[in-house]
Amino acid sequence: MSEAFPNDQLEAVARTIAELREADAVRLTQFKVELLGRKNGRLTQILRSLSTLPPDERRAVGQRANQLKREVEEAIAAREKELHTGAKSGVAADLSMPGRQVWRGAIHPVTAVIDEICEIFRELGFSRVTGPEVETEEYNFTKLNIPLDHPAADMQDTFYLSPGVLLRTHTSPVQARTMERYKPPIRIVVPGMVYRRDAFDASHSPVFAQIEGLAVDEGITFVEFKAALDYFAKRFFSPDTTVRFRPSYFPFTEPSAEVEVQCQMCKGGGCATCQYTGFLEIMGAGMVHPAVLENCGIDPERYSGYAFGMGPERITMLRYGIPDIRMLFENDMRFLQQFAE
Ligand code: PHE
Repeated sequence: MSEAFPNDQLEAVARTIAELREADAVRLTQFKVELLGRKNGRLTQILRSLSTLPPDERRAVGQRANQLKREVEEAIAAREKELHTGAKSGVAADLSMPGRQVWRGAIHPVTAVIDEICEIFRELGFSRVTGPEVETEEYNFTKLNIPLDHPAADMQDTFYLSPGVLLRTHTSPVQARTMERYKPPIRIVVPGMVYRRDAFDASHSPVFAQIEGLAVDEGITFVEFKAALDYFAKRFFSPDTTVRFRPSYFPFTEPSAEVEVQCQMCKGGGCATCQYTGFLEIMGAGMVHPAVLENCGIDPERYSGYAFGMGPERITMLRYGIPDIRMLFENDMRFLQQFAE
């Protein structure tokens, strides 16, 4: 009985070595104390009790205990190193294993389209500027030749914050703000959010983006106006895109036009998206009304210009075939990730 006793203990220690090789940092520290602790370590105690054993047994047990002590010390050192470097001994790193993908975030498709549009106009000499979303009736309507009793003021169904103060219904007030502050030549594009009392359905939202454009200089003609917008459409869509100008009405431009491009879905053949017309409207535009120039302190006898306003959400929908504007506001990652690079 007493003969088997130290041997059983030694074999129990030997069995813990396998466990030790897999231990985490906390367990490893516990093992050190349990096995090699100066006072109560299991191996320490066995080695200390050697002198109580019969001489013939002493030698064999002593040898085995010292051998185990070395093995335990080596295993602990190896495991410490492994935990420290993160390497797993005996298993080669698989260099062909795909890396874990880290989601870095991405630009929203509408923001990307706005940046792209402003960049194209930058090539034509337009600077990018912004203006306030909280506006006065004066800038949103009056200075733009929209009298307050005019159907256009009403048509745009405005969110009022207090009498005379409102959320801008379009980015056109920035035209007036810019003309008042700067002398021609003026060439600006103005991206920003606008607000209207509209439904929230597949094609409407009470808050949406616009990009305003304004060019004022001496000698700007209808030809330059058409050429600039034609250039834009061909750069943004494709070089073979047909652009068409249809007569329209805005109080702040004269003449006014609706600018349309060949339907991107059917290439002009006619489909449900373009309501079988082959064309899609991308902006309202026109030559700046002389009354607007005058309201903003610019001499209409000397200067002329053109202005335009477009909806980046609509243009994003046309380009990517997105059927519902709400998809651009819901921020569903499954939708947005399709636009990530
Ligand atoms: N402000 C007009 C709108 O919101 C668009 C427009 C801008 C039209 C500039 C002509 C010139 O509908």
